[in-house]
Amino acid sequence: MKSRTWQSRLPERKADPAFEAMNASIGVDIRLIRHEIAASKAHAAVLADAGIYTPAEHDSVNRALDSLAEEASSGSMDASGFEDVHSLVEHRLTELCGGAGAKIQTGRSRNEQTATAQRLYMKESASAAAGAIQSLMNAMIEKASENMDAIMPGYTHCRPAQPIRFSFYLAAHVAGLSRDMGRVQDALRRLDECPAGSGAVAGAPFGLDREKAARLLGFAMPSLNALDSVSDRDMQIEIVSCAALLMVRLSRIAEDLILWSSPAFGFVSLGDTYCTSSSLMPQKKNPDALELIRGKAARVAGDLTALLMLCKGLPTGYQKDLQEDKERLFDAVDTVLSCLAVFEGVVREMTVNAGAMKSAIGPECMATDEADMLVQKGMPFRQAYSQVASAIAAGEYGNGTAAVSPEDSVERRRSAGGTAKSRVAAMLEAARTSSPIM
Ligand code: ARG
Repeated sequence: MKSRTWQSRLPERKADPAFEAMNASIGVDIRLIRHEIAASKAHAAVLADAGIYTPAEHDSVNRALDSLAEEASSGSMDASGFEDVHSLVEHRLTELCGGAGAKIQTGRSRNEQTATAQRLYMKESASAAAGAIQSLMNAMIEKASENMDAIMPGYTHCRPAQPIRFSFYLAAHVAGLSRDMGRVQDALRRLDECPAGSGAVAGAPFGLDREKAARLLGFAMPSLNALDSVSDRDMQIEIVSCAALLMVRLSRIAEDLILWSSPAFGFVSLGDTYCTSSSLMPQKKNPDALELIRGKAARVAGDLTALLMLCKGLPTGYQKDLQEDKERLFDAVDTVLSCLAVFEGVVREMTVNAGAMKSAIGPECMATDEADMLVQKGMPFRQAYSQVASAIAAGEYGNGTAAVSPEDSVERRRSAGGTAKSRVAAMLEAARTSSPIM
């Protein structure tokens, strides 16, 4: 271990490599280096205002932080042997500008630093996720608009229920994705409070100007309570929860498309880009991208469970358990962003086989319409239902044809939210023009 900021407290300490490896978070939190440097710049500005730094010292700290930022972005930063990203920055700053570097930790604690850097990271990630959700929605809206007239069976209990437009199916998931987007935007509003200047647990001394630090870091305001700021991980949980819910949705769409692209259905064909084949069976074209997305939903649900369990029953204040938060947060964000990008590609490359969809609509799909026709002639619905049900039970229904066509069936459902063309077109139009949330 290169440098421990707390070394002087335990001068005789002998290191156990197994514990040193467990205690170090640098392998994970090095991803926050940009944010840590930005937060250090803001802290230095606030220290200068408080008279802790002379203008010359402030200047040299700023220059050193800029050169660290360059090192980090060029990939030449050697982070090995440090305990965490916060110790790394303090150590390197002290190397670069001596006494001024040694003043950087005045009034601040790694407890607030990890909270601040993670908030900056989450703000960026949530914005990126909102953009990726919007792109996937756009791809689905386009695919739906190009295939307005493809009609397929809508299923309940995995059995054909009533005809629906494929565009209506896609619009259903666009509606869900826009709620996912809303949740991310909502989280972004709550993320807009800056923990910098919270100290270890009790707040900052020296009259440090937390409003200024928050402003410099692009937050709307400083966080309300220092103890809450170092103690709570509800925002990490909220972001990972948004990710888990979104992944559950993607897993369901993936499952539908896996089934519908199978030879037994043939409703859609997947682009080769997102499929692989078998090393043994030459006939196979496997939907790996969709299967992996379906599988990765489990992983993100695991990330969420890990964070919830991490915080359950944890005493108020910073506890080292919380160091475990970042790996789960990063994993969930990485996974959801890659799945959104791949899913968009799958949707864009997918072709729709309207003929196969139509062939899957047997006369039984219009049984409800048959009963509805009797209702229109004045028969009570239960009687009409029984008449059609009895014909089906006796094997006398349909005989290959139905009085109502699939096209008529979908067009009869013109009430708000229905599968009639005008309604689907309106849904798609509303989704297309709804103000981009970001
Ligand atoms: N590496 C730590 C983490 O990730 C930073 C905070 C450590 N604070 C402390 N007092 N040891 O949570």
